[in-house]
Amino acid sequence: FFRSVASPPSSNFLLLGPSGAGKTAFTTLLEAKSSPATKMAHSTHTSQTSTLVSVSLPPTVPTASNRFRSVNDPSLKEATRNPIRYRLKDTPGHGKLRASQGIAELQAMSTSKDMKTKLRGVLFMVDTAALVDDATLRDTATYLHDALLVLQKRALNKGSTKRVPEVPVLVAANKQDLFTALPPGSVREKLEAEIDRIRKSKTKGLLDASMDNGLDNEEDILGNDDGEGAFSFKLLEMEVGVKVDVVGGAVKGDQEEEYGSGVRRWEEWVGQCL
Ligand code: GTP
Ligand code: MG
Repeated sequence: FFRSVASPPSSNFLLLGPSGAGKTAFTTLLEAKSSPATKMAHSTHTSQTSTLVSVSLPPTVPTASNRFRSVNDPSLKEATRNPIRYRLKDTPGHGKLRASQGIAELQAMSTSKDMKTKLRGVLFMVDTAALVDDATLRDTATYLHDALLVLQKRALNKGSTKRVPEVPVLVAANKQDLFTALPPGSVREKLEAEIDRIRKSKTKGLLDASMDNGLDNEEDILGNDDGEGAFSFKLLEMEVGVKVDVVGGAVKGDQEEEYGSGVRRWEEWVGQCL
């Protein structure tokens, strides 16, 4: 007797991140893995619009509701026959399109009351070889900061009556196949330090503004504190309940299993949100 493993059509994930991070390459790879007959596209180009794709989780990836799956587990056979599907929305990362696309999608999806568009998680993809460049780091951290602030506002404004879980964030540290790639640990440190800088200058701006209008805008400071201490993803989780994980991987080489785990660990993260 099998527990139903068919997931409801309400499992939506949003894919954000700067231009060139590999979002469309990842989306294309997942589509190809979900329907092996599809030929994999070899090149992508800068996206200008968002696309929603329906993909399936590899049967060997466990989900939160199905943690203890072994090779002999009948639910694995069931999952192979009837894979768990979820939907992924790929967004354009270009700076000029973020407000109208990625951030707007995040706002709409994270506050939607419609079960069909319920947001299970956000994947924020970064090019870990590009983060050594200061301008790229600043740009990436600004986008992540703005996305996290949307989730913080949602978390703080929903009130205590509704038991709506917070939307978790995966920083998908992509391009680990490149020898110039920063390891996930230093990607985390760099992003935290840069967000801290962004937060400090924002706090100062808000303080100056509140001198004029007397408003107290702690909710607008990421981490919901006075912005005095250092920012960390741990702080955000403790203060606001929004969890951020940084996990390395590579879209390139996933199917050759040449570069570590490819996208497997991101799929495992997705599985834990289902
Ligand atoms: P926008 O649509 O502009 O937001 O960019 P995007 O995030 O969709 O990037 P895209 O998927 O177009 O990838 C940009 C480039 O990175 C492409 O040339 C990909 O082939 C390359 N790329 C993606 N993933 C990897 C990876 O894991 N390793 C390497 N070496 N290159 C990758
Ligand atoms: Mg793209």
